[in-house]
Amino acid sequence: SKGAALVTAVAQRLASRKRQVDETLAPFKLSQEQLQLVKATMRAGLEAGLKNKGPSAVKMLPSYVYHTPDGTEHGKYLALDLGGTNFRAMLVKFKKGLQNNTRLYHKIYTVPLEIMQGTGEELFDHLAQYVSDFLDYMGMKKAHLPAGFTFSFPCEQTAIDTGILVSWTKGFKATDCEGHDVVNLLREAIKRRNEYDLDIVAVVNDTVGTMMSCAYEDPQCEVGLIAGTGSNACYMEELKNIEKIRQKKQKTEGDEETPEAVEDKQDDGSKGDKKAETSETSRMCINTEWGGLGDDGSLDDIITPFDAEVDHNSVNPGKQRFEKLTSGMYLGEIVREVLLDLTRGGLLFRGRVTETLKTPGIFQTKYLSQIESDRLALLQVRSILQHLGLDSTCDDSIIVKEVCGAVSRRAAELCGAGMAAVVDKIRENRGLDHLNVTVGVDGALYKLHPHFSGILQETTRVLAPQCNVTFLPSEEGSGKGAALITAVARQK
Ligand code: GLC
Repeated sequence: SKGAALVTAVAQRLASRKRQVDETLAPFKLSQEQLQLVKATMRAGLEAGLKNKGPSAVKMLPSYVYHTPDGTEHGKYLALDLGGTNFRAMLVKFKKGLQNNTRLYHKIYTVPLEIMQGTGEELFDHLAQYVSDFLDYMGMKKAHLPAGFTFSFPCEQTAIDTGILVSWTKGFKATDCEGHDVVNLLREAIKRRNEYDLDIVAVVNDTVGTMMSCAYEDPQCEVGLIAGTGSNACYMEELKNIEKIRQKKQKTEGDEETPEAVEDKQDDGSKGDKKAETSETSRMCINTEWGGLGDDGSLDDIITPFDAEVDHNSVNPGKQRFEKLTSGMYLGEIVREVLLDLTRGGLLFRGRVTETLKTPGIFQTKYLSQIESDRLALLQVRSILQHLGLDSTCDDSIIVKEVCGAVSRRAAELCGAGMAAVVDKIRENRGLDHLNVTVGVDGALYKLHPHFSGILQETTRVLAPQCNVTFLPSEEGSGKGAALITAVARQK
């Protein structure tokens, strides 16, 4: 009959639509083998970065942080934190003894886009002004406090208080900063104001700050992870494996010394009573800057045309390829590219490509998180899309949710593969069959997304079966960590 024919036609159309959507999303579904390969690629990246053979995709930057907190930290510190679109100023007080006796006061300032992308002088003048406001607010203009500066971009460090910006990431592009020491840039801006004094003691990456703040609660924490606007990890590496540091040590200890001699010295020291202490001072935290993995083409096999488009439209094409697959700043953009493609193919939004859909940045992490929440009925997904300016049918909302799921699952799996490489490296460094380790984590993608953390953990477990990895969300984030590092640097 006519009716039956119509039903069959509709069913066929739906099935074909489903098949086409599945085809589009297929490249986002990574097999176990592919994930193993990503782990191996990351491992090779970590090793190459530790060598001193010029620039590498994974930069492996020394932090000059030699150990995690031991509870002797005390005093009052200022922590300044520039990472994404916000600047945080924080006053931190430590009492002796580990855990829960810190006191924090903080204020958050939004850095306007035109400042992020203006001149370096304007950017740092702005930061100095935020600090001024915070000191006024706390009534501490005259205090001359020691300060730690969390600066969450790749910096080449030669000491705890110098950091030369290698390149901006995450959409920043202020001029005249790359190649300069950011501590100096901040000191100069403060001098220009001529209004208050600060003693900037340490410059710290957010991963390192996060690891330190978590290690304050859990001594097994020797890895830091950020899954937020950007994606990055740090971990405690053996000094003898860090060529840049070894060669510098050699120079200061006399030219006749071979790298092996430096190693022997450290091994000597680890005999007897001092064992624990010395084995600790024979390590350094390395900021991996793993977001750069793939900048040499090593991830090309898993990069989809949608990723290529997102990279192409970014302020730093060709750079931070791993970050562009895994972090909050880019996931929404990948989703948008897929939705655009499906709409052009007539599979979504009745085939109508609206201005909204063409607007970069509409899918922020918080919306992806809401859309993917299982507690949400499809009707609510539709109302989120409506709120974003997208008219959807019920079928549309199912497809959008599927796209978001595929993109964020891949992100979490890739982070897990990276993490598996890091923890296995630590385990092998120490010649262990089994390693228990805690990873301090921060970032909106980890904290807000309904599935990211679970998939990350599961992938890490499967890919690093000889490691027992506990993920510990950081409480007060990288600011507290920067203050701890400042405290240690000050006490020396
Ligand atoms: C970017 C930065 C890195 C930072 C990460 C997380 O990858 O290059 O330094 O740790 O974002 O904020």
